[in-house]
Amino acid sequence: MKVAIVGASGYAGGELCRLLQYHSQAEVTCVTSRKLAGTPLEDVHPQLKGFYKPLLNFSNPEVDDIDADVAFLAVPHTAAMAYAGKLLSRGIKVVDLSADYRLRKEIFEKVYGVLHTDYFEAPYGIPELHRRDCINAKFVSNPGCFPTGATLAAAPLAKYANNIIFDSKTGVSGAGDNPSATTHYPNVGDNVGPYKWTSHRHLAEMKQEIAFLGSKANVYFTPHLVPVNRGILTTAHILLNEPMEQKEVEKLYQEFYKNEYFVRYQKPILAAVRGSNFCDVMVESEGTRVVACSAIDNLVKGASGQAIQNMNLMCGFKENDGLTGAGLFP
Ligand SMILES: NC(=O)c1ccc[n+]([C@@H]2O[C@H](COP(=O)([O-])OP(=O)(O)OC[C@H]3O[C@@H](n4cnc5c(N)ncnc54)[C@H](OP(=O)(O)O)[C@@H]3O)[C@@H](O)[C@H]2O)c1
Repeated sequence: MKVAIVGASGYAGGELCRLLQYHSQAEVTCVTSRKLAGTPLEDVHPQLKGFYKPLLNFSNPEVDDIDADVAFLAVPHTAAMAYAGKLLSRGIKVVDLSADYRLRKEIFEKVYGVLHTDYFEAPYGIPELHRRDCINAKFVSNPGCFPTGATLAAAPLAKYANNIIFDSKTGVSGAGDNPSATTHYPNVGDNVGPYKWTSHRHLAEMKQEIAFLGSKANVYFTPHLVPVNRGILTTAHILLNEPMEQKEVEKLYQEFYKNEYFVRYQKPILAAVRGSNFCDVMVESEGTRVVACSAIDNLVKGASGQAIQNMNLMCGFKENDGLTGAGLFP
């Protein structure tokens, strides 16, 4: 099966190229970059040296010239909407890693401050919650990295909560490969700090998913940047209507995720999921406040790994094809 990666020179695109090497059915045949057309893939992603034979070069095709069975859109928000509909109309299945199809049109336009020029409804690809919608779908909108970790941390308890406060620590690759003052080494190294304290765009996705779970809880979110390359550790403070015992909440989580290959009930440690598609979750109750923590790799379960998980559901492959690798602990 031929796979095109639009935006393959970025971090999520590079991670798709890495992970798809382990897939039994997929062959990456087209990697796009506007700035780097003609450059060998492995010049930008040195981890891939020797993996792509014959050598794969970046290209910059018109959208109508992209030839593939499946395309991943690993481009910034607003860029994906120029590709999605056109690829779909030519029978190419699409997984979009950007924010363009994650929210309802009016919410997207409010949160991102731009008009949507090619809106349609799409399944929201957290397979653990929306698997039925993703199976055989022609298009799946891949969730944001923070909302993936946060939603999986709170999902089993969401409907019992009146307030949920997400506090996340993220690695710097979450910001993409474009350098900025925030990600400049002296500013981020040996340092920790909050950003977008109450206004991060991913809050809208979290609210959407918590409501989808049948919850009326208020949802709050504050992200922090920490000096690691990969990973998101989320602490969810779940304030309940009625107190719940430790045994009860633990059972609820284990039951909720008992058939989920990628969600493991164990103490979340960033390094244990790094490079893998796993989300580790654990929970502790003190009565009406339950603390649930999750750890994911923002580039894998938070982006490219989950995108491949979605492709597997869309194409009828084994859900974990290409994604069975363990994390890189320590
Ligand atoms: N980084 C993460 O942890 C993460 C997690 C979840 C979701 N995402 C989402 O995944 C997408 C990619 O993220 P990233 O971190 O990989 O970003 P990135 O490192 O900045 O890469 C962006 C890629 O898109 C290409 N691109 C930029 N503008 C384009 C346009 N108008 N048309 C076509 N290609 C364009 C860039 O190459 P050229 O400029 O050379 O074309 C580059 O290959 C974003 O929507 C991001 O929000 C990222």
